[in-house]
Amino acid sequence: MWQVLFQKYGLREAVRLAYTDILSDFIQGIDTARPVANQKLTSPSLTQEHHRYVPSTYSAINSALEHISDRVDLNRCGFLDYGSGKGKALIVAARHPFTQVSGVELSHELHDIAVANIQRLELDARINCIQGNAASHTPSPDDWSCIFSIRSVDLCLKIAWKR
Ligand SMILES: C[S@@+](CC[C@H](N)C(=O)[O-])C[C@H]1O[C@@H](n2cnc3c(N)ncnc32)[C@H](O)[C@@H]1O
Repeated sequence: MWQVLFQKYGLREAVRLAYTDILSDFIQGIDTARPVANQKLTSPSLTQEHHRYVPSTYSAINSALEHISDRVDLNRCGFLDYGSGKGKALIVAARHPFTQVSGVELSHELHDIAVANIQRLELDARINCIQGNAASHTPSPDDWSCIFSIRSVDLCLKIAWKR
């Protein structure tokens, strides 16, 4: 786990993540912060190294949403996370006034953890969690307003859309 954190974020950010995000998860009784190597996931498509689950930090997600909220009215936007993992970005987004919050995650294991996290926080009514391939997911028009996607899924989608 520490190797993944260190590689992804560098030493300083890895230590900050450990102190803030893991503690935040502990207080809320959820699991979003612990990375998962793709060898531990059974979905056949998740075989490449860059598809492993390494979560965004709460501060990165909040900063992205603050940046957007300065420019658009979130009351008129839907939020969609392509590659939603354990639901971390969905949980943060559900605390903002989006019209709908959706996530698509390929891994059954991560999807199940996301659903458990969302139920634990009683956010079920605000979040639509979908298990499936983002490359074959057609967003509803509302979703298009704000699409959150980290680079690994972005690459995968670009490849899929080129076919
Ligand atoms: C780096 S994690 C990001 C998780 C979350 N969005 C966040 O920011 O914390 C990338 C996620 O994308 C998922 N993923 C990769 N390819 C995918 C695909 N084609 N469709 C759906 N999910 C995919 C992986 O299983 C992993 O959970």
